[in-house]
Order: sequence, then C-alpha cells, then structure tokens
Amino acid sequence: KGEEVKINIKADQAGVKIDKNIYGHFAEHLGRCIYGGFYVGEDSKIPNTAGVRNDVVEALKELKIPNLRWPGGCFADTYHWQDGIGPKGERPTIVNKWWGGVTEDNSFGTHDFLNMCELLDTEPYLSANVGSGTVQEVADWAQYVTHDGVSPMTKLRLENGREKPWEVKFWGIGNEAWGCGGNMTPEYYADVYRRYVTFMPGGLFRIASGASSGDYNWTEVLMKNIPNNMIEGMALHHYSVIDWSNKGPASTFSEEHYFKIMKEALKMEELVEKHSEIMDKYDPENKIALVVDEWGGWYDVEPGTNPGFLYQQNTMRDAMIAGTTLNVFNNHAKRVKMANLAQAINVLQAVILTDEEKMILTPTYWVMKMYNVHQDADLLPIEMNQKYYAFGEDKLPAISASASKDGEGNIHISVVNIDAHKANDVTFNLEGVNLKNVTAQILTSDQLQDHNTFEQPEKIKPAEFKKFKSKKGEITMSLPPFSVVVFEIK
Ligand code: AHR
Repeated sequence: KGEEVKINIKADQAGVKIDKNIYGHFAEHLGRCIYGGFYVGEDSKIPNTAGVRNDVVEALKELKIPNLRWPGGCFADTYHWQDGIGPKGERPTIVNKWWGGVTEDNSFGTHDFLNMCELLDTEPYLSANVGSGTVQEVADWAQYVTHDGVSPMTKLRLENGREKPWEVKFWGIGNEAWGCGGNMTPEYYADVYRRYVTFMPGGLFRIASGASSGDYNWTEVLMKNIPNNMIEGMALHHYSVIDWSNKGPASTFSEEHYFKIMKEALKMEELVEKHSEIMDKYDPENKIALVVDEWGGWYDVEPGTNPGFLYQQNTMRDAMIAGTTLNVFNNHAKRVKMANLAQAINVLQAVILTDEEKMILTPTYWVMKMYNVHQDADLLPIEMNQKYYAFGEDKLPAISASASKDGEGNIHISVVNIDAHKANDVTFNLEGVNLKNVTAQILTSDQLQDHNTFEQPEKIKPAEFKKFKSKKGEITMSLPPFSVVVFEIK
C-alpha cells in the first residue's frame, strides 16, 4: 500500500564503520556545566570522587561516552591552563568573559579533567587557546599532558602529583575562530593554525576550528590552505535555533516552533553533505574527519535563571533532534567520524540536569543510551521512500532511520517519526535475515512538551515496544507520533 514508508536495509553490505566518537559530549566552563554539574569539590556533601559527582559518573558510563571536549567553546580561547594546576588554594581566578561574567577559582583544571576522563573511561578532547593565548602555551600544554620523557613540563607535572602522562589524542586548535575565538578570516586562521600545529608534538589528532553551519567558504579556504598532513579533523558547528534574538521557550513551545526547530535540525544532512563534498575535493582519500563538535537545540534560558548560563529544559522535541541528527551522522559515517553534543550537563541540549544533590536524565540522555549500540558497528546502507509531516505550507520528511551490524552480528535499526500528530506505518525489508529474535525499545510520551523534572524524574524513559510484526524478511509497525524506536535483531 503506497501509504507506508518502506526501508530496505542491506544487511549483507556492511561497509564503513560508525566511529564511536560520533557519540561524543562537550563540557564547557559555562553556567553549571562544570561547577555544580560535573564537579562539586571534595568537601561537598554530594557523594564524589576527587570532587567529581559519583551519580554523574555512573550515568555517563552507562552511555559509554567515547570522548569529552573541554574546556570550551568560547571559554577555551580565554583559558590559560597553567592557572588550573598546582595547589587549589593558590590558583589565580578567571573572569568568565563569555558566560555571565562570573569569577571562577580555577579549582577544576587539567588534572581534574583528565583524571575525570579516566573515571568515565572516555577519551579527552582538549580545546586549546589560540584566540588569546600563545603558541608556546599550547606546545607546553601538549608536552605537560602527553610527554613520557624528561622535560620541563613533565617535571612540573610530577611536582603536581602525576607521574605518567595521560592519553590525549584529540586537540582542537582554537574554537569558532570566525567569532568568539578571535574574529578571524579563514585565510588568516589557516595560517595561524599552521603555525600552532608546527610546535605541537607529533602523533596527535589535530582538529581545525570549523565553519558555522552553511559557511562553505570557511571549509573551502581551510582545506585549500592547510596541507593534508597537518590536519586530522575539520570541525563544524550547527545549532537548531531559529532567531538568535528571540529563541523561544525550551518546554512551553508551540507546534510552529517545534516544526521550525526540526527544520533547522534536519539541515544537518545537507550541511554534512556539502561540507563533505568540499573535503572530498581536497582529500579524495578521505583521511580528514568531519568533526561536528557542537550540535543541539538552543532555546531561551529557563525563566529566572542567569541568561549567561544557558540552562534549558529538555523535552520530547530534543529527543527528536537527537534521534534524527544521530541517524544523519551514522549514515554519513564515511566522513563524519566524531561529534559532540552541546552540552553534557545543565547547558543547552543536556543529557543530565542537576539541582544541588538531585540529578535527572533527560529524553536526550535516553536517545543517546538507546543509540549507543551503533558505536563502532558497521553501517548498513538503507534505501527508503518518505512520508511528510506538514505544517502550514511547509513539510518535512517524517521518518529518519539508520542501521548497523555489530561485531557479534547483531543488527540494530534506529527509526524516528517526527510527526507531531500522526502515527506512520513503516516496514523494514531485511531480505535474508533471520527474524526469530527481534526486540525493540521506544521513547515517546503524551505531549511533545513533556520532560523529566526533579519532582517527576522518570516521566520519560524507554519502554519495550511490542507493536510490530516480523515475518519473511519484513518487520512492520505503526510508529507513534514523535517517537524514537531502536530495534535489535539477534
Ligand atoms: O555551546 C555554547 C557556545 O556555542 C560555545 O561556547 C561556542 O563555541 C558556541 O558558540
């Protein structure tokens, strides 16, 4: 019947690996992300390990977060790492120029972050200060954390209590160099980038500060002016926001606002394709990764909270953004090898919200958890037709999907219906696959605006999805409005 969405999944054509780093996160010194979110200090009554909240560590370990970006964002280009080492009581303060003008005591610094990454079993991604720092400072930072021999920086590291270097592969060379990172032109930044990486140790994964959304000229100039052997990753930032001066509410939004935000979120597909096309031209062997190291929904802050802290609630709409965006990344795994949701805790599209000792997991958390089965699995190509979600004169593709096969041969299919009202009939065609052992999990709720609160922390969480039929190489279902479902075929 012509009304259903047919998704053909080519289970025998496993090819590109979905790099687990697509499921990365971001922790900036911004609002209550670090202080109060990750870190409460050793003297806190909140259970902690060296000042890092135990509840947060446990929750993030469940997600299997592959990498964590720090200390910014815009903050990174104001940050002087040497202010964050040594005895905590003696560290200088820093005024957070970009985020609320608050004064920080630098009590969470390099050791705290890198030790926390070890606790989380995640790879650190350090974002170096290019905008207001020096080449020497970045070279010293890299030596301080990675050098295994005798050197002035390893001596200093040892004096601060750490003998062995940490493993820090990912390095961002500045952040948003076109804006808060120094308002540079792409030509100028490309030269600055070359100069910085020249003095860094070898063997690192160096990520250039990339374009904002559709600024294709930025990517073109950087790819042209930076030799391929000097760069491993090209960044891209894209937020789902409609009007920067009037972003609209995070949880009391209209359907019109939902539709427009989803339109922005779904642009990720075109952005990834067009930036990749430019990269293909200069890097036909596909050696340089596209690193979407900031993405997510951005709304007005919650009423009564500091406008500079970017604290927002997280609803089923955010689950729709996460589900569709991660499907785009999976399906473009050939070029997109890393990404970072902005941000992990208490800022923008967070997976965790905290209030003093309380902690809740957001709908976005659950999507990340359901999707972590794709990490390092082989992407399965899909072909599909489409049904549309219409609003006013405009319409958006309603269904998004991606599929993979893991090392044990299990197939996972993630599928999203963004329609605000209609269920959609969907059929997976999996010719030649034994469908004896199929299970599925769903994330949905009564209202798009639904969210978890400190009073009702489990309003939204995944449940078993049973309303499907599987026979003769086909799985059929009616996918409820605004739902995310992940199937497992063992
Ligand atoms: O994530 C919040 C901010 O958004 C980051 O600091 C900056 O890089 C971007 O503009």
